[in-house]
Amino acid sequence: MATIRLGDIAPDFTVETTEGIINFHEWLGNSWGVLFSHPADFTPVCTTELGLTAKLKDEFTKRNTKVLAVSVDPLSSHKEWIKDINETQNTVVNFPIISDADKKVATLYDMIHPNSSETFTVRSVFIIGPDKKVKLTITYPASTGRNFLEILRVIDSLQLTANYSVATPANWKDGEEVVIVPAVKDEDIPAKFPKGYKRIKPYLRITPQPNK
Ligand code: BEZ
Repeated sequence: MATIRLGDIAPDFTVETTEGIINFHEWLGNSWGVLFSHPADFTPVCTTELGLTAKLKDEFTKRNTKVLAVSVDPLSSHKEWIKDINETQNTVVNFPIISDADKKVATLYDMIHPNSSETFTVRSVFIIGPDKKVKLTITYPASTGRNFLEILRVIDSLQLTANYSVATPANWKDGEEVVIVPAVKDEDIPAKFPKGYKRIKPYLRITPQPNK
């Protein structure tokens, strides 16, 4: 499988999950999507990640985003593991987990990095837009649990910048000032950004977040 790059169409697949058979593109519909891999069932870091994802369901829903987990173990194992996740993380897993025992999705999305581990997947994250294009990829090692607030933050940035000619600066959070993209000419700014702007340098122009 070739590397998946930003702007590529996310490879489609049909798989068995803990919530039935899913065709990825059809299941996404007009939503945004987060596809994220887990090294294996019954592992401690993954248990905390899936518990936290369940607790953040409302945050993903607010952003019109569906989440789909992948782990290269069979469905029967996932179902037993979910009981442990619910018990230990004090939640109810409320999103599908792909049963990827044949490593179909792991291979399609290049989630096994053999020089890291021959059997476990790394912790991949793919954010996919309603156009089915890949908007973000991040790869974490198995030993590092992901920061799900960062994933939500990137979705906020992607959804904002899809609709306005802005980009979001370092450590930006929803509600903070943004930068006007260089393609916008100074003379066009007042009409496009009626809240005003600061011109710190010709290429560094700051404006309040336009959709707040
Ligand atoms: C974990 O999810 O806890 C884990 C999985 C593989 C290696 C190290 C940790």
